[in-house]
Parts: sequence; structure tokens; C-alpha cells
Amino acid sequence: MAALGARIAAELRAGDLVLLNGELGAGKTTLTRGIGESLGVRGAVTSPTFVLARTHPRDGPPLVHVDAYRLSSAVELDDLDIDFPGSIVVVEWGAGLLDGVTDDWLQVDIDRPHGGDPLAEVEPRTVTLTGYGDRWKEWVDAAGH
Ligand SMILES: Nc1ncnc2c1ncn2[C@@H]1O[C@H](COP(=O)(O)OP(=O)(O)OP(=O)(O)O)[C@@H](O)[C@H]1O
Ligand SMILES: [Mg+2]
Repeated sequence: MAALGARIAAELRAGDLVLLNGELGAGKTTLTRGIGESLGVRGAVTSPTFVLARTHPRDGPPLVHVDAYRLSSAVELDDLDIDFPGSIVVVEWGAGLLDGVTDDWLQVDIDRPHGGDPLAEVEPRTVTLTGYGDRWKEWVDAAGH
């Protein structure tokens, strides 16, 4: 997750949106932490349990980490007053909330297989990257992504 976060972070700039899908405990926040570390944000990226969106300042556009678990509509996402053009926005549980917000985003689907050893220190995750909009489509299509 850290390595993947670094690869994604290297491409991120202001106005970018990353949508993270995956069931409870799939690793969405862990990946966001990897992105944040690679971007050099100040402060740790944690699960924003009591806040819907947390802004992590850095030298450059801030990382805004949204946990939309308790949000129910695009209207509510609007209510968060996120500076989308001036930030890098990573959203957990945002599927279906982004209609009308943007046509360009990177979607990361994290699959956590069941039936493995629950005590294993590292469980494999299957990650599928999908680009929406020309730039992200090209990035995902490029070798290695
Ligand atoms: N590849 C991995 N191997 C083993 N453990 C992992 C892996 N990725 C994440 N984890 C662990 O799984 C747990 C849940 O991860 P995380 O909080 O990132 O999931 P999440 O998708 O954000 O969950 P939620 O839906 O509750 O927001 C954490 O303890 C994390 O360390
Ligand atoms: Mg999480």
C-alpha cells in the first residue's frame, strides 16, 4: 500500500481526485497514508472517524482526505466546501457521490480476499486501478499501472 501510494502520489497535482473503493478494512486509509507520506503532508493520516474531511497541509496543494461513509448524496459532498481545484482530494466510500463534481478521477478498487489466515501479518490485497477522463486513462494504460 505504501509503494502503491508513492506511485500514485508522484502523479498527483492540484485538482486531482482519487476515489477509493473497498469493503470495511480493505486498506483504503492505509493507502491514503501511503499517498500522504509520499506527498510529505504534515500530520499523520488516520481514519477520520468523527470528521468527514480532514485537510493535511504540505508544501504545495494540501491533501484533503474524505471519509464519506456517513454521507449519502452529492449534495452533502458539496456541503463540505472542499476546494477541489486547489487540493488533492482522496475519498473513501465516495462511489456514486461524485456525479457532477468531476469527469476526471482515478479509481482504486481494493479487494480483500476472504478465507485467509485472519492473524497473518500481511494479507494480500488485489488492487484494480481505473482511470476516468483522458489523463487518468492514459496513466493507467501506461506500462506498469
Ligand atoms: N495489505 C495489507 N496487509 C495486511 N494488512 C493490511 C493491508 N492493508 C491494510 N491492512 C490493515 O487492515 C486494517 C484496515 O485497514 P484500513 O483502515 O486502511 O482499511 P479501510 O479500508 O480504510 O477501512 P474502513 O472501511 O473502516 O475505512 C489496518 O489494520 C491495516 O493495517
Ligand atoms: Mg478507512
